[in-house]
Amino acid sequence: MDSIVIEGGHPLNGEIQISGAKNSAIKLQAVCLLTDKKIVLKNMPRLRDTRFMGQLLAHMGVEVEEGPGPQMSLHAKSLSSTTAPYDLVRKMRATFNVLGPLLARTGKAKVSLPGGCAIGARPVDLHLKAIEALGAHITLDEGYVIADAKDGLRGAEITFPFISVGATEHSILTAVLAKGTTVLSNVAREPEIVDLAECLNAMGAKISGAGRSEIEIEGVKSLGGVTHNVVPDRIEAGTYALAAATAGGKVTLTNLRHDHLGSLWPLIAQAGANVELKKDRVIISRNGDGLRAVDMETQAYPGFPTDLQAQFMAMMTLADGVSIIRENIFENRFMHCPELSRMGANITVTGREAIVRGVKSLRGAPVMATDLRASASLINAGLAAKGSTTVGRVYHLDRGFEHIEIKLGQCGAKIKRVSE
Ligand code: UD1
Repeated sequence: MDSIVIEGGHPLNGEIQISGAKNSAIKLQAVCLLTDKKIVLKNMPRLRDTRFMGQLLAHMGVEVEEGPGPQMSLHAKSLSSTTAPYDLVRKMRATFNVLGPLLARTGKAKVSLPGGCAIGARPVDLHLKAIEALGAHITLDEGYVIADAKDGLRGAEITFPFISVGATEHSILTAVLAKGTTVLSNVAREPEIVDLAECLNAMGAKISGAGRSEIEIEGVKSLGGVTHNVVPDRIEAGTYALAAATAGGKVTLTNLRHDHLGSLWPLIAQAGANVELKKDRVIISRNGDGLRAVDMETQAYPGFPTDLQAQFMAMMTLADGVSIIRENIFENRFMHCPELSRMGANITVTGREAIVRGVKSLRGAPVMATDLRASASLINAGLAAKGSTTVGRVYHLDRGFEHIEIKLGQCGAKIKRVSE
């Protein structure tokens, strides 16, 4: 398996173009199952996860074409299978989102329960309850969800007990072709949900309220084709912004929506980096001055994203003072802490809180993580550390960061990929 090797201690200077959002792209790919017309996704990130999803869709009979450039075309003229097998689903949780569209299109589906990053239990009970409320009959058999909706799906009023991004998206995907009106309450408001609704509406769906806590969907009979631009990846943008703040230097980020990171910029500024928000770019700089400790807690959007918690913590390991970081979304998302500690960080975890006592410097070490974003935090720490850091299990990074070593290398990072 590949590793990433970083010679730390060099400030970053340059420009990084942000790719399309992984978390949006993989749900947009599932949209193709809802129509026999072609959908074309532009600004498509070229990632392991989008490729996995492409493979799963191809297994179902979808014609999948990558390129030219950051583009993917998907055409589900007819479906040859309504089963999503364990081997294709276990690697990535979001593949589970094909269940609703398959049901909507064909009236039946058999989908393996999902895998993905090891960040807590991550059940799919909310997904299943919503799909049942929309008229499907569901049974579980040997790790598979078997669903049928022989008499068609019908609109329903669904109130979620707590906010779930995946269950919100899955419910939208299931309800667009259902008979009648669906009202989803206490839903997630992430930009990726707005992106999904905009894509579906451009195909003829009638979804209103995406980005707010209540979404209304008036079912339509069919959907047409579409060419859609994937929203920029706010987590990738935030990761590089934090890399610049952590390692120092001056980095310009382009092709992003800085309004999607409204919770991040004030915290980076409080920590002591300079943040310039321009219309089409963001410039992050920090020269020489030390970092200051800032407390942070993760929340559903528009709060601070859990997907940037590890990278924020990497920055705080070098801050002057004590930072308390609280993880409210996932119960087990501190696996990066022991790895950061191996690099010299001083972190104590108690339940959902990490107490980070800043140290003067980190030192390079061999590290690894089993979670995509945690791996990114180790890269950021390695950029700032003295000496050489080897980040193993790059497999996880490749799931969600397009050409991370190239993008950072263009900014002067001494970073390379090593194949074993
Ligand atoms: C998505 C993102 C992930 C991000 C997360 C929270 C994708 C592919 N992944 O994950 O990067 O960290 O949102 O912003 O878009 N839960 C249940 N039952 C359910 C569903 C969720 O208990 O049926 C729990 C989860 O275990 C978790 C919380 O709800 O504790 C939030 O999860 P959710 O918002 O659903 O995250 P994902 O959609 O899995």
